Amino acid sequence: MKILAIETSCDDTSVAIVEDGTYVLSSVVATQLEHSQYGGVVPEVAARAHIQNMIPVLDEALREAAVTWEDIDAIAVTKGPGLVGSLIVGVNTARTLALLHQKPLIAVHHTEGHVYANWLHKDDNNVPTFPLVCLTVSGGHTNLLYMKGHLEYKIIGETHDDAAGEAYDKVAKLLGLGYPGGPLISFLSQKGDKHKYAFPLVDLTAAPKRGVDGFMVEAEESLDFSYSGLKSAVIRKVRELEKQGNTLGEAEKADIAASFQYTANEILARNLVRAVTKHKPTSILLSGGVAANVSLREQIKSKLGTQNSKFFYPEPTCCTDNAAMIAAAAYFHAQISDYTNPEDLTPDPNYKLA
Ligand code: KG4
Ligand code: ZN
Repeated sequence: MKILAIETSCDDTSVAIVEDGTYVLSSVVATQLEHSQYGGVVPEVAARAHIQNMIPVLDEALREAAVTWEDIDAIAVTKGPGLVGSLIVGVNTARTLALLHQKPLIAVHHTEGHVYANWLHKDDNNVPTFPLVCLTVSGGHTNLLYMKGHLEYKIIGETHDDAAGEAYDKVAKLLGLGYPGGPLISFLSQKGDKHKYAFPLVDLTAAPKRGVDGFMVEAEESLDFSYSGLKSAVIRKVRELEKQGNTLGEAEKADIAASFQYTANEILARNLVRAVTKHKPTSILLSGGVAANVSLREQIKSKLGTQNSKFFYPEPTCCTDNAAMIAAAAYFHAQISDYTNPEDLTPDPNYKLA
């Protein structure tokens, strides 16, 4: 089954054609460089750029896959969450194509796309098994999911404030590195000392409370995240260093970047391991843009120890936003004939996964 998928939830215009949820026949991503000068995504600029990019990206995806519309079995699109102006472009393109070419239409949640990136480029012998725990970390989301089976999502941990990727982007902006910040922090960290600054390993586990029998009871370890405190600690440290010696030099920036990256990743790895201990999954998944971070993968592997063999993460190009992951998730919707009427499909910027 060949699915053509469209993803426009943020600042990447992407179209992909994927066979049976795993074989990527084409995956085209037009990254909008317009935003780097602003240090973040400007919604209005993103929506306009999607309109300009959509037709060329669509044409290229069809050409690269060497298929015609007759070969396409279904069309999939990200319904949400995301920037409404960006989502509208993708959703309306998908609706029009579905009506024009008489193809079934599948609506996909952006996060389930990230999860199913772990099924891309895999055969039946090496796909994740259920139950699984997945840590999804991107610019907009940081959550832990428990899945009993395909498309069955239970959120077991989430962020109370910033997403981890957002923290990466904000720290990069603070250090004057540019946008998106994650890859730039990661690159700079290679030259820094990750133990130079002890930033807080924020833990939302509640303090012990007195039980009905009068004895103190330890709270269950929290699987939730908070990144605003870590971000503020980095800001305070930068201001303190600036007071001492005017502007930060390259070496100081590298130490800040490395210490921040190490701490942000330790928080993610710690909560993932807590979730694994509690829920005993048969597979452990990492997904989302921050999953491209090599140090994060290593920190998780080291904490998982012998559980390592069940640890899955997508290829770097499949971690950040792309339409192939949307096609992979859509394939499993198609298996249960979960189609949507093109006349009724509307984008939902606050679309809930579970
Ligand atoms: O999944 P994604 O492309 O978009 C959202 O759904 O948000 O994730 C983008 C996020 C950005 O915050 C970016 O800085 C971060 O992923 N990111 C990274 C790396 N590559 C991308 N963060 C850390 N290390 C990386 N190598
Ligand atoms: Zn994403």
